[in-house]
Amino acid sequence: MLIFAIETSCDDTAASVVENGKKILSNVVSSQIDIHKQFSGVVPELASRAHAENINFVIAAALKDAGITFKTFKNKVSAIAYTRGPGLAGSLLAGQAAAHALSAVTGVPAVDVNHIEGHMFACLLEHRGLKPPFLALTVSGGHTELTIVKGLGNYRYLGGTRDDAAGEAFDKVAKLIGLPYPGGPEIDKLAKKGDPGKIPFTRPFMKGTWDFSFSGIKTAVVNEVRKNRKLKTADICASFQEAVVETIVKKTMDAAGRFKLSHISAGGGVAANSRLRSALSTAAAKEEKKIFLPSPALCTDNAAMIACAGYYKFKKAGRSANPFTGIEPAMELRNWR
Ligand code: KG4
Ligand code: ZN
Repeated sequence: MLIFAIETSCDDTAASVVENGKKILSNVVSSQIDIHKQFSGVVPELASRAHAENINFVIAAALKDAGITFKTFKNKVSAIAYTRGPGLAGSLLAGQAAAHALSAVTGVPAVDVNHIEGHMFACLLEHRGLKPPFLALTVSGGHTELTIVKGLGNYRYLGGTRDDAAGEAFDKVAKLIGLPYPGGPEIDKLAKKGDPGKIPFTRPFMKGTWDFSFSGIKTAVVNEVRKNRKLKTADICASFQEAVVETIVKKTMDAAGRFKLSHISAGGGVAANSRLRSALSTAAAKEEKKIFLPSPALCTDNAAMIACAGYYKFKKAGRSANPFTGIEPAMELRNWR
């Protein structure tokens, strides 16, 4: 079964074709970083315009890479998955309009997918051994969440960020110390040359909840930089990154222990962080748990993960998988009916 997917929740215009929820036949991502870099963050209005300009080319490229023509689309593709939310309203609208236009013209049904579900399912594209129930850690620019995946489409949300998401904290700290957008990969790179023990930032463990809070570390970085102008950028990066990573890893391992889950998946842009990947792997091995990490390109926003989630949802719900009720910028995770 081939699923064609479109992802436009933030600043990446992406389209992909995936076979049976696993085999990626094409995965095209058109980044808008060059547009937003000059503003040190995503400008929603520019993002939606860029999606509208790029989406047809991205769709055409993804279909071409998968060997599908407009004529064969109807016979080869079973469903068109797209991101309905959460995300930026204008960006989501561009993707949804394209998905529904394609659906109307070809008769191939559209399936709406939650973006977080996409990040949680990214692991399933590459790892055959990951099976529910598992603990899903989602760490992206907009979310930091722990969810128990009891079954595909059957979730128990444990907790999430109360203020800044992990990726947001990386991006804001990078901006504060003069690094370009997006800050996560820049901090990851520089941290390799720094001392993670140089500044002992408090770890915001938020005891007694599964929630996260990273805005305090951001303020602590500002205070440290003001106090000591001679601090090396690499040391700030390494110390900040270590505090965020230690917090995420401890809470994740605690939740896996508490709910007796032996499989853990990670997803979202911050799951591409090299230190987080190694720390999660070390902690999981120590506690005899299995950690499943998507390759870095499938951690950041892409449409293959939307195709994967769309595949399982379509298999379960068929044509009723898409109640066409518009986009949902603040969409929450919902169980499939
Ligand atoms: O999942 P994603 O592509 O988009 C959202 O759904 O938000 O995540 C983007 C976020 C950005 O904040 C970016 O700085 C962060 O992921 N990120 C990283 C790394 N690569 C991307 N953060 C830390 N280390 C990285 N290597
Ligand atoms: Zn994302």
